[in-house]
Amino acid sequence: MLPYIDVLNRLEHTRYHSGQDLANVFGVTRATIHNCILRLVSMGIPIDRVRGKGYRLMKPLDLLDKAAIKSKLTTSVREKLTQFQIMHELGSTNDYMATQELPKAGCFSVAMAEMQTSGKGRRGRHWESPYAANIYMSVLWPLQKSMSEVGALSPLLSIGILQSLKALGMSGLGLKWPNDIYCHNKKLAGLLIQCSGEVSGTSKMIIGIGVNVYMSQQESVNIDQDWTDIVTHSTTNEISRNEVAANLLNHVVSILDTFERKQVDNLVGEWAQWDILKDKPVMLHKLNENIKGVARGIDEHGYLLLETNNQIQHISAGDVSLRAQL
Ligand code: BTN
Repeated sequence: MLPYIDVLNRLEHTRYHSGQDLANVFGVTRATIHNCILRLVSMGIPIDRVRGKGYRLMKPLDLLDKAAIKSKLTTSVREKLTQFQIMHELGSTNDYMATQELPKAGCFSVAMAEMQTSGKGRRGRHWESPYAANIYMSVLWPLQKSMSEVGALSPLLSIGILQSLKALGMSGLGLKWPNDIYCHNKKLAGLLIQCSGEVSGTSKMIIGIGVNVYMSQQESVNIDQDWTDIVTHSTTNEISRNEVAANLLNHVVSILDTFERKQVDNLVGEWAQWDILKDKPVMLHKLNENIKGVARGIDEHGYLLLETNNQIQHISAGDVSLRAQL
């Protein structure tokens, strides 16, 4: 196994390390170090390579840190946290969570990755997940409600993610049904919820969240929609991924907890405040069918209200995609 993560941890922004020095430190050949560097570059890590000098990080890495994240969680969220893992590399944090044991009622586990090799988006799409650039996290929550009641959870969680970004000082935020978070009309974050019933009657909810923090043009070439990231809209360049992650957790866990204990209150009105599709012409793609209509917000179950020929259809998120006809 190439010690590429060890090499990465050794590299600095402020000075060069020669290939020979690194080889000596790790007791491997210079060729192995060279391969590690190639691997790191292919992961999207900008490394300055200068003949005769060696290797240097082109910008300091902002790595996820469990202690830093925990220190920013509210007491109530920290008390509910059963298992917290941060991995350098995973296929998908959602897939990983599917293999994990369900925490006891009222508690949750969370997994974060610096990079995903098979990050999953909605409708089978790929989610670009370069190293140490964005947030990729999945929360595992034992939901004490039946599957028929979980519809409202997706818009509630989208609102929670938006609120967490707003709390970090972001403006220009909006929601696109069913669960995309936009900033100045470009996608900033997405939510992938997977839910399965357990024999115990509890539902296993995996809430996967991806937020673009520092997505470079080079890393985003495969994204087929307008996207943006936090750094583009920040007034300072000092964004801490740990702070973004902690804030997300605080909001998401508080929503899950409230959802289990209380009736959902004013979902329709809350969504309307942020709805970027409200009263806009849209095209809905469903299997082989395209339906043109006007988006009229959502109902209390999180269904889209689509007006077609003066009639309102209630559309479930299932296998549909939606494009605004602007
Ligand atoms: C979407 O908007 O299409 C949903 C994107 C969800 C991406 C996140 S990243 C963490 C988690 N793991 C995955 O494989 N997907 C979700």
